[in-house]
Amino acid sequence: MDQLRETDSQIAELIQREAARQANVLRMIPSENYASAAVLTATGSILANKYSEGYPRKRYYQGQEFIDQIEEVAVQRARALFGAEHANVQPYSGSPANMAVYLGLLGAEGRVMGMDLAAGGHLTHGAKVSFSGSYYDVRQYGLSRENGLIDYEAARRLAREFRPQLIFCGASSYPRIIDFAIFGEIAREVGAFLAADISHISGLCVTGLHPHPLPHADVITTTTHKMLRGPRGGMILCRAGLAPAIDKAVFPGLQGGPHNHVTAAIAVALKEASGTAFVEYCRQIVANAKALADELMARGFKLITGGTDNHLALIDASCRGLTGKILAQAMEKAGIVANANKIPFDPRSANDPSGVRLGTPALTSRGMKEPEMRRVAALIDRVTDVVGDEAALAKIRAEVEEMCAAFPAPGIA
Ligand SMILES: Cc1ncc(COP(=O)(O)O)c(C=O)c1O
Repeated sequence: MDQLRETDSQIAELIQREAARQANVLRMIPSENYASAAVLTATGSILANKYSEGYPRKRYYQGQEFIDQIEEVAVQRARALFGAEHANVQPYSGSPANMAVYLGLLGAEGRVMGMDLAAGGHLTHGAKVSFSGSYYDVRQYGLSRENGLIDYEAARRLAREFRPQLIFCGASSYPRIIDFAIFGEIAREVGAFLAADISHISGLCVTGLHPHPLPHADVITTTTHKMLRGPRGGMILCRAGLAPAIDKAVFPGLQGGPHNHVTAAIAVALKEASGTAFVEYCRQIVANAKALADELMARGFKLITGGTDNHLALIDASCRGLTGKILAQAMEKAGIVANANKIPFDPRSANDPSGVRLGTPALTSRGMKEPEMRRVAALIDRVTDVVGDEAALAKIRAEVEEMCAAFPAPGIA
């Protein structure tokens, strides 16, 4: 930081303030986490200086002696962790990874089924505002009105009628187990490829805390910066037979030179994720989410599906007469940072939805456990009573800061 401060004090100052913010608030956006100092070191390394279009041993530029080894290590570790025949670690992030699946398996057009954004799917699973919904012929499946769970039978009927060539499963905002076996069955019945986007739950899948998409899915995609605690990036895992199509779609189909500093940091994160400490970390994420959900419900909060099986919970803020945005904004003033989110069959718009999405991966990385989750639930409860009362919210914030000081944030000096 000293050198950065000398060159550009404005940016150095802003980074430092953001570091303090990340250390002093309860970060509960389920897709965020703390990368370790080791991962951050690799991400900020001189590897960013090198161009290496192509794949290990098949590059278009000279000087790849060490870069090739780094990418090979990352690929080997990814294959081992996910039990996959092939891994591509070059996608710049989760959305480009998904885009490569569309391009690699379908080409520029085709019929796709994905989970509706409003039901908890991701933009890249066929939303109209994304490339996926604008360039491909998409039909979307969703949730059962009765219980808020994925309506597998409706998805099966839709698949029989629509005959998709590719089905995406996986979600950004779904608190329950996803049944990859049923999706596999549906995909096989209609002759579609199945892609499982496990960006949110990859840690749970590789540690046995959520069913693994293999052998049901043809392709798995994941971001590397959520539960895996890597740098911002993406990965695609698949059968050996699909490797040429996937690799060609990533490069040269969609991308140029891989971000070698990110590849190295992914390798480090994968090493960190391969030990028993990571299994324990993921077990605690789920235990924490359950403790948080149980305490919120005990305090009268309405949670979508009545709880959680994974790392996240969705509050229906209308149970306190609030909108999601008003609650999320009040929580931020109290030092608890989450995001307003649509709830199933939300009568409100995406810009001003009814829910708030809460996740435990980042708090668990700080070493917080069930007692802290119960305390967080109590703090959120108090926030709902004092929305608009700046002094009362500041008082909660002071308590949050005290709590944060007792649980140092990894990677932040
Ligand atoms: C399920 C899922 N897939 C893909 C992505 C996209 O990742 P990125 O934001 O890195 O493009 C996200 C992001 O949150 C996600 O939740």
